[in-house]
Amino acid sequence: MSKVTTHHLTALRERGERAAFVTAYDYPTAHYADRAGADMILVGDSAAMTMLGLPSTLGIGMEEMLVFARAVSRAAKRAFVIGDMPFLSYQPSDECAIRNAGAFLASADCDAVKCEGGGRVSRRVYAMVNAGIPVMGHLGLTPQSAGQDGGYRVQGKSLDAVKRIRDDALVLQAAGVFALLLEAMPAESAAYVREHLGIPVYGIGAGPHLDGQLLICHDLLGSFVGDISPRFAKRYAELGAATEEAFRAYVADVRAGHFPGPRHCYRLDPSAEAEIRGARRQSNPDAPLGRRQLPEPVAG
Ligand code: KIV
Repeated sequence: MSKVTTHHLTALRERGERAAFVTAYDYPTAHYADRAGADMILVGDSAAMTMLGLPSTLGIGMEEMLVFARAVSRAAKRAFVIGDMPFLSYQPSDECAIRNAGAFLASADCDAVKCEGGGRVSRRVYAMVNAGIPVMGHLGLTPQSAGQDGGYRVQGKSLDAVKRIRDDALVLQAAGVFALLLEAMPAESAAYVREHLGIPVYGIGAGPHLDGQLLICHDLLGSFVGDISPRFAKRYAELGAATEEAFRAYVADVRAGHFPGPRHCYRLDPSAEAEIRGARRQSNPDAPLGRRQLPEPVAG
């Protein structure tokens, strides 16, 4: 099984085949996504919210992102892994951008990085690409600058607005991005941007006319903790509810003395068991040698 490459992604666009793209932040999730055939895995800075419980993506840094990225890369045998550059890891200078993007590749084994923004980050993109780092662009709703853009809003809702996004996309393409991600845009607007580009264009909440789709794994799996539920997210499972149910059953079993049962216990040789029982009896003649009697549960 060979790893997905940027050439493979370009060939998919040329053949009109869609790429499946998901986020993951840990080894087991990336393992199952990879086995299921996901073409790309984004180690998104959405980890700030999905994994760390922070209110926005702004509070996560390179140190945490690299821990998540290493776990994902270890699991991804085929999928193309993209490290998401967190807030202030590329904005300050070209050198800062190259160093941090390089860390995703050199120390976390990612295949590429992603950063948000158009014209204003194009110099950084150019610098990273010239350092040999594959970069994915990200336009439309860009959560790292949501404060400046008036909040988490759908973008590209007028022809003028979508032309500005197209112009940013063209600047990014000229700076060397291998692909572009569009977030939270009407389907027609996203299609308009795509039609002006020669690189693969993926979407999250940007309609069906693109070269592939991204979903945040917690939205897909029904395991996000919080009340954000984007209109575009489709749930394929209810892991949050299933997880809580499993923990409730465990807690009840422990309290009732139903866990561990005989098949969850290590066994001794009969002679060693008799010897140890004898020693227990000697050191504590009153101790029950069978199952320990539990006190009645305390109400409340
Ligand atoms: O961090 C992330 O998961 C992202 C997607 C929301 C596009 O950047």
